[in-house]
Amino acid sequence: MKTPIKVSTKRISETDIYVTHKGMDELLQLLQPYTGMRCLLIMDQSVAQLHPWFIKHLRNKFSDVVDAIVPSGETSKTVQEWARILDIALTNKLRRGTPVIAVGGGVTGDLAGFVASSVLRGLPLIHIPTTLLAMVDSAIGGKTGVNHPTGKNLIGSFYQPDIVFADMQFLESLPKREWNCGLGEIIKYACISNPSLFNLIAGCQPGADLAFVANIVQQCAEIKANVVMEDELETGARAFLNFGHTFAHALESHTRYRRFAHGEAVYVGLLAATWYSQKMGAPVDPDRIISFKKTFKLQTEDLLQAVPSLINAMYSDKKIRTGALRLVLLSDWGKPMLQEVEHNPLLTEAWQYALVNAHNN
Ligand SMILES: NC(=O)c1ccc[n+]([C@@H]2O[C@H](COP(=O)([O-])OP(=O)(O)OC[C@H]3O[C@@H](n4cnc5c(N)ncnc54)[C@H](O)[C@@H]3O)[C@@H](O)[C@H]2O)c1
Repeated sequence: MKTPIKVSTKRISETDIYVTHKGMDELLQLLQPYTGMRCLLIMDQSVAQLHPWFIKHLRNKFSDVVDAIVPSGETSKTVQEWARILDIALTNKLRRGTPVIAVGGGVTGDLAGFVASSVLRGLPLIHIPTTLLAMVDSAIGGKTGVNHPTGKNLIGSFYQPDIVFADMQFLESLPKREWNCGLGEIIKYACISNPSLFNLIAGCQPGADLAFVANIVQQCAEIKANVVMEDELETGARAFLNFGHTFAHALESHTRYRRFAHGEAVYVGLLAATWYSQKMGAPVDPDRIISFKKTFKLQTEDLLQAVPSLINAMYSDKKIRTGALRLVLLSDWGKPMLQEVEHNPLLTEAWQYALVNAHNN
């Protein structure tokens, strides 16, 4: 056999993440390289209505703005919506180098990222996340995509943004339930990387001082950025970000994505995974997580009868490659590890523990 021609490539990309408060001037400065150009502005519909001042200032920076308004909610993460925005981009004759600016939560960000990665094989991407979840999680790390009727996030690409600009003032209009979605991920970061965050989380509520929230967002963004730098394509350490998520996905899918917001399901999952870790000998006490249950106000006890179905749902998670369940567990606070887990009584007990202790009377 002839010696093959080898192609060895390294993705070279750099994202600058800014965490700020009332940072319009900073943002306009960052957009300086694009002054006078066109841009494709992909915006969540509610955010466009709630923050017109922001959009107006942003518009002034560009010679021409091509708008794509994304209807709020997960139902916009579809191939159809992606194709609709591609049409807008291409009929408006965007060129290579035209920036795509995504303003919204994780839905808008994931969709806009996928658009940016696919139009003309890649346009510069600027994320302006407007939910707590998007600021600490989805805007960072380059996972883009849409859902398919057979499952969530099954279509997409890895495509890194050039800039992530998290301005805390968007959070002033964020409803409590959406706030909690971000909190679920922040508690996860406390578990897997920085337990000192636990002391700050109780104060991270709607109405909190935004400089205080910015400090928490900054710490979480650093954790996510470090994990992504170590393992961009999720072949190793990036999987640690799924702590609690195998339980959470099962809960969401069992309740058909209607009953729990993602962050609420993550909260239950964190309890189950921490309890499991403790049973495996880790010095971690799930009480630390239970202390936030009044924030989430969940009703979960009626699901105790559904534990066998919840366990089945865990085994059909798309991240299970070999048929064995690979759970992220803790060997201590801040020390995640991957472990293959048999279908065993501990799994049942972990669910029972989480469903009873997440329940708020
Ligand atoms: N790419 C990733 O790495 C990654 C990571 C985690 C989650 N995600 C994805 O993120 C999505 C969830 O993101 P999300 O929780 O931000 O949901 P979302 O984008 O649907 O936003 C939640 C709701 O908040 C509204 N909203 C957004 N900003 C607001 C503001 N400032 N004030 C008032 N309302 C506002 C939206 O209109 C929407 O109704 C899911 O699709 C999930 O799959 C992606």
